[in-house]
Amino acid sequence: MATEARSKRLEFGDFQTPLELALEVTVHLAHQGFRPRSILEPTCGRGAFLLAALEQFPQIEQAVGVDINSQYLSELGHATCSDARVSLIQSDCFTTDWRALVLSLPQPVLILGNPPWVTSSRLGVLGSANAPQRDARAVKSGIEALTGKSNFDVSEWLLRSWIEAIEGVDARLVMLVKSSVARRLMLHLPITLGATYRPIAATKHFGAAVSACVFDVYPGGPPALSFRGLLVSNPSDFARRANLAADSPTPWRSGIKHDASKVLELTPQRTSFKNGLGEVVELEETYLYPLLKSSDLSHKSAPTPRRTLLATQRKPGESTDQLSVTAPQTWDYLERHSAILDARASSIYRRAPRFGIFGVGPYSFSPWKVATSCLHKKLQFHAIGPHNGKPVVFDDTCAFLSFEGREEAIEAAWLLNSQPAAEFLQALIFWDSKRPLTIEILRTLSIGALRDNQD
Ligand SMILES: C[S@@+](CC[C@H](N)C(=O)[O-])C[C@H]1O[C@@H](n2cnc3c(N)ncnc32)[C@H](O)[C@@H]1O
Repeated sequence: MATEARSKRLEFGDFQTPLELALEVTVHLAHQGFRPRSILEPTCGRGAFLLAALEQFPQIEQAVGVDINSQYLSELGHATCSDARVSLIQSDCFTTDWRALVLSLPQPVLILGNPPWVTSSRLGVLGSANAPQRDARAVKSGIEALTGKSNFDVSEWLLRSWIEAIEGVDARLVMLVKSSVARRLMLHLPITLGATYRPIAATKHFGAAVSACVFDVYPGGPPALSFRGLLVSNPSDFARRANLAADSPTPWRSGIKHDASKVLELTPQRTSFKNGLGEVVELEETYLYPLLKSSDLSHKSAPTPRRTLLATQRKPGESTDQLSVTAPQTWDYLERHSAILDARASSIYRRAPRFGIFGVGPYSFSPWKVATSCLHKKLQFHAIGPHNGKPVVFDDTCAFLSFEGREEAIEAAWLLNSQPAAEFLQALIFWDSKRPLTIEILRTLSIGALRDNQD
């Protein structure tokens, strides 16, 4: 596909659903005994869901398809031209009055389809404005608050507005979405609505390497079980292990964020270091620490640091100016690579001291840690002591607890690797997430309760 056509496709989240998948979804609804009187397919494109629903629910009195793309609407118009129940509307989904449209249809209404799966930051890169406009007056909870975030999923904004549109109406919303979006939405459903979600093979149907599902929201549907703002993935295990929940957050931390691995991560040589640009450099020891990354922590065996991190600060916001005096070779090295360091894209660096890093504090330099990878699809905790006399630090794909003494760290790692801990954590983990284990999940587990509750 030509580059321009490809970027247009990404901008409009234009991945048409195969009819076979749309039929599978409607057959499932029919088997459950659901009989809509009308259907609405927002962002309908070529209308796979509209066509599948017309086939599956012959009693339908009205069917409406809405899309911005006139070409798709005219194709769909041809495919449904003899059917007087069908009306097609060309409209921008971000400004359409969905509530008014839903209320104009015979109930029960079935709203089904597949919204554009695109994030606002991706749209920014594409230079596209195909997103809801931020309402500067009303950055509050709900859908307006989403547009105030630096990055949000456009499909999440749309689903929130469709959920608002069906509140108090005899209607059901069935949409293909990323699983992460469905899970966030489940935590914010109005009290009268519940939801289920079933995984789909997104790679097979859309060539998208992402976990996706059929998200089904309806009045009286099963309510989501959550714990401290986290969706519970396994309610029965969670109920069984609820006595392991911490009364107050356990002090897990993320590793150091620096976004300049080519400059700040070094491979030790015999008497010098090699950076990610292939340069051999000599630096003072003062700001160098052995580094472990999530890949090092994913193995069963005790990890040994292969890299060294140049940690320019010891606490958040600390001035880096003194490096020119305390470690002139290091300062000179940083200045020589300032083009890379100063160009770090995240806005956090713009407000920080020059060459600064994040996720650093006294806890980063305590001698003992218990650490785990947040990226890998298994639970594995390691007690890590000093390496060559220096505390080991971690990158931001790891989480860790700090300890002064070896015994405490070894005991904590043993407790965290136990069966009760695994059951508690797994009841809150969704393994298909990009980052299955989060600091928020880890903070809910009490080490003290684990000690008291070994089977
Ligand atoms: C993922 S495709 C899904 C199409 C169809 N629902 C299906 O399942 O095959 C997303 C659709 O959203 C439409 N779209 C993108 N931006 C839109 C906008 N601002 N307003 C209305 N439709 C839009 C695209 O034209 C495209 O047809």
